[in-house]
Amino acid sequence: MSFEKICVLGGSGFVGTVLVSELAARGRQVKVLTRRREHAKGLILLPTVDVVEANIHDERILAREFRGCDAAINLVGVLHENVKGRVDKPQARRGDFHENHVELPRKAISACAEAGISRFLHMSALGADPTSRSNYQRSKGVGEALVREAGWDANPDPGTLGGAKLTARRGMQVTIFRPSVIFGPGDSFLNLFARLLKLLPAVPLACPHARFQPVYVGDVAKAFADGLDDPDSFSRTYDLCGPDEYTLLELMQFLQKTLNRGSRLIPLPDRLSYLNAWMLEFKPGAKLMTRDNYYAMQTPNVCSDGNGAPPNWQPQALEALAPAWLTGAQMRGHYSEYRNQAHR
Ligand SMILES: NC(=O)c1ccc[n+]([C@@H]2O[C@H](COP(=O)([O-])OP(=O)(O)OC[C@H]3O[C@@H](n4cnc5c(N)ncnc54)[C@H](OP(=O)(O)O)[C@@H]3O)[C@@H](O)[C@H]2O)c1
Repeated sequence: MSFEKICVLGGSGFVGTVLVSELAARGRQVKVLTRRREHAKGLILLPTVDVVEANIHDERILAREFRGCDAAINLVGVLHENVKGRVDKPQARRGDFHENHVELPRKAISACAEAGISRFLHMSALGADPTSRSNYQRSKGVGEALVREAGWDANPDPGTLGGAKLTARRGMQVTIFRPSVIFGPGDSFLNLFARLLKLLPAVPLACPHARFQPVYVGDVAKAFADGLDDPDSFSRTYDLCGPDEYTLLELMQFLQKTLNRGSRLIPLPDRLSYLNAWMLEFKPGAKLMTRDNYYAMQTPNVCSDGNGAPPNWQPQALEALAPAWLTGAQMRGHYSEYRNQAHR
């Protein structure tokens, strides 16, 4: 089984750019839907990639753009809300998390049904859980369950989940991926902390004992590209983690050593971590941390028990790959970081 024409939502982002390049390298026709063509500038020159500006939140436009494709991939996600809302109360105001993590997957599944697409790959996140205290994780959890339900063919009735009505036909061939934090040139995790270490003589560190199992962006892209045609991945959920587990403090110490920075790390106790997150929430410009991140970090972001990894999963180690771009040995790594910051 081979899906030749794939429509990608969120294809211009950090993960999307690597995945779309991987699919193009495998000879697939890829259509990337974006709010602004210039967000996907790096993909426009790829010979089998078509970048199309579209309002993907409009279900009719989505169905129109999906027509002619035989698979769809949804990577859209936001880490912070500009418009805040509630995920758990259907009657309450809907924020960016709800729109992008719940409503958008619902619309994408309906649009797939409308356009005759039966294969759908969905990006969730490790820790996604409809009962989480974090709005990000809760919305990802509700969206994930909605997508999973679209893969069931036992119950023919449309359902309702988290206030979002599922109108799509059941029995889609869906695969869900739940990565831990993703690293790579241009990421917004390691690069953010690296910038702080370069700027500040002392770095207060909220949630120093939060646990992660960082996974390389190239491995995540490969898992999607391999899973696309693999019938064994239908109706499966995969957790994606790197080979090693770190606390946030250990990651900072790794960065200190790699960048040869002597900044003092000040691990904050729990109450101060919360206060720090609260204060940073009101900082204008790019968000460093919010209370929602604080809540998310209370759950270890590791793969110890869960859904299992895809077949032949051989993730690469952070310590083997990251120093190359963090230290500037790979200048392109810095370029993609700058592009990411400028959202270009
Ligand atoms: N990065 C990580 O560490 C990590 C870890 C776990 C899970 N994830 C998940 O992986 C996915 C990709 O993450 P990423 O790091 O590649 O994100 P990213 O670089 O921020 O890219 C996000 C993509 O989503 C689209 N997007 C953002 N807001 C949108 C909106 N309001 N309406 C429509 N499209 C919107 C953007 O498309 P345009 O700007 O082109 O419209 C962009 O291509 C997300 O679902 C994220 O939750 C990421």
